[in-house]
Amino acid sequence: MTALRTMHLNLFLTHVGHHEAAWRHPDTDLSQIYKFDHYQRLTQLAEEAKFDSIFFADRLSISPQAVAHGAASGYEPLTLMSALAVVTHRIGLIGTVSTSFNDPFNLARRFSSIDRLSMGRVGWNIVTSGTDVEAQNFSYDSSPLHRERYERANEFVEVALKLWDSWSPDALILDQQNGVFADPNRVREIQHRGTYFAVRGPLNMPRSPQGRPLLVQAGSSEDGKEFAAKWAEAIFTAQQTFDDAKKFYSDIKTRVAQAGRDPARVKVLPGICPIIGTTKSEAKAKERRLHTLTTPEYSLSQLSNRIGFDLSPYPLDGPFPELPMDKVEGHRSRSELIADLAKRENLTIRDLLVRLAGGRGHKTITGTPKDIADEMERWFCDGAADGFNVMPQLMFGGLEEFIEHIIPELRRRGLFRTEYEGTTLREHYGLV
Ligand SMILES: Cc1cc2nc3c(=O)[nH]c(=O)nc-3n(C[C@H](O)[C@H](O)[C@H](O)COP(=O)(O)O)c2cc1C
Repeated sequence: MTALRTMHLNLFLTHVGHHEAAWRHPDTDLSQIYKFDHYQRLTQLAEEAKFDSIFFADRLSISPQAVAHGAASGYEPLTLMSALAVVTHRIGLIGTVSTSFNDPFNLARRFSSIDRLSMGRVGWNIVTSGTDVEAQNFSYDSSPLHRERYERANEFVEVALKLWDSWSPDALILDQQNGVFADPNRVREIQHRGTYFAVRGPLNMPRSPQGRPLLVQAGSSEDGKEFAAKWAEAIFTAQQTFDDAKKFYSDIKTRVAQAGRDPARVKVLPGICPIIGTTKSEAKAKERRLHTLTTPEYSLSQLSNRIGFDLSPYPLDGPFPELPMDKVEGHRSRSELIADLAKRENLTIRDLLVRLAGGRGHKTITGTPKDIADEMERWFCDGAADGFNVMPQLMFGGLEEFIEHIIPELRRRGLFRTEYEGTTLREHYGLV
């Protein structure tokens, strides 16, 4: 099959990999995980393979269980991205920053700075943060309510955009002979006064190469989808089945059109966590090997945190309980996905822990390169994805395997680029 369009690939980069027990795997070299070289090597590998972008997630707290089980990823995303910007040339760099615990002025400056350092390759994954423990690191007793977080996020983005636009593209004159550096009439105060923010502006630096970062979003609740429809240029999402992914894709594209935007200009990237083997049984054996390294108590605490509901009183070999979904104030869409998965497949809590260990609810595909490419092609060609958020279960070896075995298979099918066509992140995503 020849594709008219090609897929977008983002690498979701972490210190050890996306499997819960990745840090315990013998291939993982723990002496490297806090060294810059580790991130530089992975990012440069992804760039050689022509990935659109890499992405760093971020949480603003850490639990004692996560400390004990290697989940301390270490770097603040924008700091790391600044360093990566100067050792790479083409690949996009997307970082997570929360709208609940930052101010638009600081954020706008930081993204403009990295956009400049990288010559137009920066993206912002806009999150609202959903847990009380995060809020407690910022002088609150508990997390603001779900709806209120999204209201603040909307105003936050509005202000940031006004700041990025406060310097017109032609504001810099740079006329040494006549002594005109910039035209003050083309650099305007924004005078924003709203519910959450009062900001005078303008931004204290000239417009960056992209003008503003690529706006990325990853919340899939009702409020999250409305927010995405209004602002997002790329959307990361966790989807378990082709049917759910297709439903999500069509729902979000409809909402984008209803918001008066062109659906083709919003790219939807579901997560995939591949385990690759030369045969299916070899891939399955790799998966089982990883599972033997997990501990149910830790997996259970992670799951409880993720859904904002304490599962410890429930027997591991009993059914997953009914969740009071209307009371979930944390990460609502992921909680729904997990509850649906347990119900659809009649899973015990223990079964569920095994299912979630590889990708926390993202699609795990265990098989040969052909199996994995077939599934990606189906999602891409049949209306469920514009590309994928690639989440290797192991960072030591997993990316190399994907590049060696899956990318050539996608290229043979005409589904993935062989060269970058543009230089900016927005160009890679076909949005210029
Ligand atoms: C691929 C992916 C990455 C995410 N990364 C983060 C992150 O780094 N930090 C965070 O707080 N939430 C992250 N999330 C969660 C969402 O952005 C969102 O905040 C969460 O799902 C709550 O919103 P919702 O209730 O609208 O789903 C991520 C979600 C996905 C699918």
